[in-house]
Amino acid sequence: MNIISFEGIEGVGKSTQIDLLKKFLEKNSKEVEIYREPGSTLSGEKIRDILLDDQYDLSSKTELLLMFSARSELVNKKINNSSADYILLDRFFDASLAYQGYGRDLSLQFIKSLIDFIDCPIPDLSILIDISVEEGFARKINDKIDRIESSGNVFFNKVRDGYLEIAKNNEDRFIIIDGSNTIEEIHNDIIQNINL
Ligand code: TMP
Repeated sequence: MNIISFEGIEGVGKSTQIDLLKKFLEKNSKEVEIYREPGSTLSGEKIRDILLDDQYDLSSKTELLLMFSARSELVNKKINNSSADYILLDRFFDASLAYQGYGRDLSLQFIKSLIDFIDCPIPDLSILIDISVEEGFARKINDKIDRIESSGNVFFNKVRDGYLEIAKNNEDRFIIIDGSNTIEEIHNDIIQNINL
């Protein structure tokens, strides 16, 4: 089984690229499952609702622990039981390092210990789609802004820089793609990195 995670700030086009990659893989007779984080299990989706609902004023530590609660369910109920050829993840543990670690200034070391604690598998490939915070949010201008999205540009610039640092420190599994390219160009870049 191959695990591919997609990462990046809001508005980079992860979902579009995940759908295109799924179609490409299925055309090549591969079985594909897609999961989003937080979410994709019964309890994980409820946790997601709490995390994104702006009526809750969650502390950063609560936010982190809820992310890992949802993730633990996803790992144990879905990923570990999967017989698919490819699992495509719309975010995974690198998102907690970027958002809660770099963005909210929580300990990266502690977050890494949570990754170990819930036995997270390491993705075979992680795709960071990178664009500026301004461009990302300009693409979401008509969407309702959720609790995390309302964290402001200073926060999102820390998240973006964090992602770039994580990718640099994990060159063996990360590729960085310029998210200001066309949908087609990005898709072609991605499939260059898939060994069927
Ligand atoms: P999205 O799926 O629409 O991108 O929403 C998920 C939000 O949760 C997004 O703002 C990123 C954030 N997030 C974290 O802060 N930490 C995490 O570990 C994950 C998986 C997501």
